[in-house]
Amino acid sequence: MFSSKRNVFGSNRKMGLDFRGLVLMVSCFCLIPVCVLATNRVYPPQQQQNQKLRFGQNGEFKILQVADMHYADGKTTPCLDVLPSQNFSCSDLNTTVFLNRMIQAEKPNLIVFTGDNIFGFDSSDSAKSLDAAFAPAITSNIPWVAVLGNHDQEGSLSRKGVMKHIVGMKNTLSKLNPQEVHIIDGFGNYNLEIGGVEGTDFVNKSVLNLYFLDSGDYSKVPTIFGYDWIKPSQQLWFQRTSAKLRKAYISGPKPQKEAAPGLAYFHIPLPEYASFDSSNFTGVKLEPDGISSPSVNSGFFTTLVEAGDVKAVFTGHDHINDFCGKLTGIQLCYGGGFGYHAYGKAGWPRRARVVVASLEKTEKGSWGDVKSIKTWKRVDDHHLTAIDGQVLWSKSFGNRS
Ligand SMILES: *[C@@H]1O[C@H](CO)[C@@H](O)[C@H](O)[C@H]1NC(C)=O
Ligand SMILES: *[C@@H]1O[C@H](CO)[C@@H](O)[C@H](O)[C@H]1NC(C)=O
Ligand SMILES: *[C@@H]1O[C@H](CO)[C@@H](O)[C@H](O)[C@H]1NC(C)=O
Ligand SMILES: *[C@@H]1O[C@H](CO)[C@@H](O)[C@H](O)[C@H]1NC(C)=O
Repeated sequence: MFSSKRNVFGSNRKMGLDFRGLVLMVSCFCLIPVCVLATNRVYPPQQQQNQKLRFGQNGEFKILQVADMHYADGKTTPCLDVLPSQNFSCSDLNTTVFLNRMIQAEKPNLIVFTGDNIFGFDSSDSAKSLDAAFAPAITSNIPWVAVLGNHDQEGSLSRKGVMKHIVGMKNTLSKLNPQEVHIIDGFGNYNLEIGGVEGTDFVNKSVLNLYFLDSGDYSKVPTIFGYDWIKPSQQLWFQRTSAKLRKAYISGPKPQKEAAPGLAYFHIPLPEYASFDSSNFTGVKLEPDGISSPSVNSGFFTTLVEAGDVKAVFTGHDHINDFCGKLTGIQLCYGGGFGYHAYGKAGWPRRARVVVASLEKTEKGSWGDVKSIKTWKRVDDHHLTAIDGQVLWSKSFGNRS
């Protein structure tokens, strides 16, 4: 497990490995209880998962969102909704090629898969489908994370089984659930802190916070039809995490006036995604049924507004909606369908969303906190054409310290 992850974080990881080897070797020669204590202290098991992501020396952090790969068995799994001229020899492997090209074109700092990573019904072995689906992310050596959609568990693994398999894969920072919470609905609720630039005042602060949630699959309540929703237990965890991060950010060292911006990623859109039309969103809404959110509103949007730090939400699920619209200060965005075995629209290319957070240059010429968050999409054509570039959020003058 250790060696399989060493490439993500560069050479420090390798030094850690060698040192661990030394500790283990030494442990053969001393009393067992002492040595267990010593190795535990030097290497808390969660160290790897807590390895800090941070902004680079270019003052940017770039995230590639991949929504709805619907991966099944690879080259034997056909494409859906492509033009007749594109259907010949089209399979899951086209999804793999697209993912490799997107990673090459954007070289993101993190790849986020927002669910329906595999299409369980058509997969003969869920573990194999997951391995094949995430293979381009793994070979890129870029850290990646995933959440569950409503189709991931339809094959040979349960929702817990799928998430456990993902957490054990190479180069991922995904977690089964937060360590500090004993009871929480779903699998794959966790957060990541993105640190400021090395050598600046913000090196020890999380300047961008990412939240990942399991939006479930289908309602288990007989009187409520349709899709699942984000439960009170998950909202409580989000509230506490957001409050804890805010507290750390507004206290020393380098105390800030307000919370660092946050971004939330999950699969099923919130009911509030239905608040827009073409006059006030960027992108398209081509789904005949509009927005496929749960039939009840569990209040997560209100929870987000109240917490105040999350500036944008990114979901998948509706493959042929790809817009961003702003409601009460929060951008509600779709990734746009990515996978070739996912339903789509013939002649309307598969796509993915990119988000870049950029830091402010301080008067001293070093990097500060996050100044703006921008987004665009790329479509799977010959040139991976970038479309719909927009600013999602920028620090207002009043907030500048
Ligand atoms: C596309 O090819 C698959 C087999 O690979 C076939 O099952 C499907 O019917 C074809 N679709 C169209 C629209 O031709
Ligand atoms: C899928 O990949 C095949 C083989 O590389 C290619 O011929 C075909 O054009 C691709 N289809 C699409 C829709 O990109
Ligand atoms: C960051 O933390 C390290 C380790 O605790 C400390 O040595 C360093 O002075 C801190 N830097 C800043 C800018 O707060
Ligand atoms: C978007 O515009 C429509 C009218 O065209 C309006 O009904 C809706 O409330 C607007 N949404 C937002 C979030 O402003």
